[in-house]
Amino acid sequence: MAELDAEEQSRTPLFTGVVEHARRSPIPFHIPGHKRGRGMAPEFREFIGENALSIDLVNIAPVDDLHRPRGIIREAQELAAKAFGADHTFFSVQGTSGAIMAMVMATCGPGDKILVPRNVHKSVMAAIVFSGAIPIFMQPEIDYNLGVAHGVSLATVRKTLAEHPDARAVLVINPTYFGVCADLRGIVELAHSYGIPVLVDEAHGAHIHFHERLPLSAMQAGADLAATSVHKLGGSLTQSSILNLKGNLVSPHRVQVVLSMLTTTSTSYLLLTSLDVARKQLATRGREMLDQALELADYARREINRIPGLYCFGEEIIGDRSSSYDWDPTKLCITVKELGVTGIEVERTLREEFNIEVELSDLYNILCVVSIGDTKREIDTLLHALRTLAARYYRSRPANRVHVRVHETPQLAISPRAAFYAPSESVPLREAAGRIMAEFVMVYPPGIPILCPGEIITQENIDYIIEHLRLGYPVQGPEDQRLERLKVVKEPPMSVPEYLEIRRREPVLV
Ligand SMILES: Cc1ncc(COP(=O)(O)O)c(C=O)c1O
Repeated sequence: MAELDAEEQSRTPLFTGVVEHARRSPIPFHIPGHKRGRGMAPEFREFIGENALSIDLVNIAPVDDLHRPRGIIREAQELAAKAFGADHTFFSVQGTSGAIMAMVMATCGPGDKILVPRNVHKSVMAAIVFSGAIPIFMQPEIDYNLGVAHGVSLATVRKTLAEHPDARAVLVINPTYFGVCADLRGIVELAHSYGIPVLVDEAHGAHIHFHERLPLSAMQAGADLAATSVHKLGGSLTQSSILNLKGNLVSPHRVQVVLSMLTTTSTSYLLLTSLDVARKQLATRGREMLDQALELADYARREINRIPGLYCFGEEIIGDRSSSYDWDPTKLCITVKELGVTGIEVERTLREEFNIEVELSDLYNILCVVSIGDTKREIDTLLHALRTLAARYYRSRPANRVHVRVHETPQLAISPRAAFYAPSESVPLREAAGRIMAEFVMVYPPGIPILCPGEIITQENIDYIIEHLRLGYPVQGPEDQRLERLKVVKEPPMSVPEYLEIRRREPVLV
């Protein structure tokens, strides 16, 4: 991390400016109509407190305007850009989902190709539908020991770029939910050799920029845009996020325009000011706070790996695949398959018996996040609970066998946008072969879509879905949750061979 000016980073122009405005107590003849909480239901006012309500403002002149920042929001964004190593930082009050949509829609328009991992977050697919872009899917690497998907490897990006040198953008998830990173710098250098910008879904990496033991951040790796969830691991309020930009492959003006098109005009100052103070904290004390988080995570991992029947991966994850090039030790992915219970059951037991909530669970794992907000007490409570569960189940039940199979990405006949807006109909799953999907079907783990809107359904896809349903694996996505029927594009105007012929001549119908 580059040396920051500590004095400059100690400033919080936005938070300070908004608090000063609230302290002046001007008579508010503007919205919000609760008028500093006086018009609000008392139980909520008392619970949330007068301070919070006094800064629940709208974009009146003294507190600047996120849509056209010229005052304290602009100053706060400039300080954030320095802290995160970006040329420009844009605040988002619509989560990282909003920032991701802006990244995709600022770089891709109708018919433009975008390279994306098959297991992208739904906001990426939403942006692909809205923009009319054509996804070129890259398969992430699967870890068959853990039953989870890592990122896409450099080799996969290289192969896909060679086949699609005309792509408008490459999007990668870095780090993954489980804290695994690909060779991001390699991916950036490769994409830049084609003049193509790299967009990073950095939802799970707001902290990584601030400690040298953590993987390279998107900005450190030279990426062009990164949507970074400060609210997830950087200490700001839920729903606040940032979009970082670096270099000259993407215009900051275009990003500002698109972000503004997607953003509410009633931007929350609670969210915005929390970004300002979170940035200050990360820049001035982040390293020291992360030191403690890393120490706690190291301790937790060591102890978990001593519990018979449990496994929490560590640095041995690195190196055997280019998609696991680096890792974030603060993520505790605890594999419970040897206990003969599912991660989902462990999540439920931790909740019901120990008052512990985990980040997520799947058939084989639970994920616990250690952050700058944890202390040894919470870690010890978790360890006690895990020891109790392991003693209850290990060897008294047969271990679970990981069953994860990934199949070829189906052929895209029409763009996801065309499929989304086309008239659709519901047909029995078993009769859907040859039709064009109008919705998603996903199987967990590893959370990779089997079918996306616009793709031609094959008999192999149907057999795969039926097999997973029979095994009791969670298959999700379609409107019909029993998965007896699928939503497909109605009365295709031509047969599939005709589609394929047209696709041969004209890559994708937009
Ligand atoms: C990989 C990934 N990307 C993007 C997001 C969206 O972030 P947000 O909830 O801030 O909109 C999430 C949310 O969990 C995520 O896991």
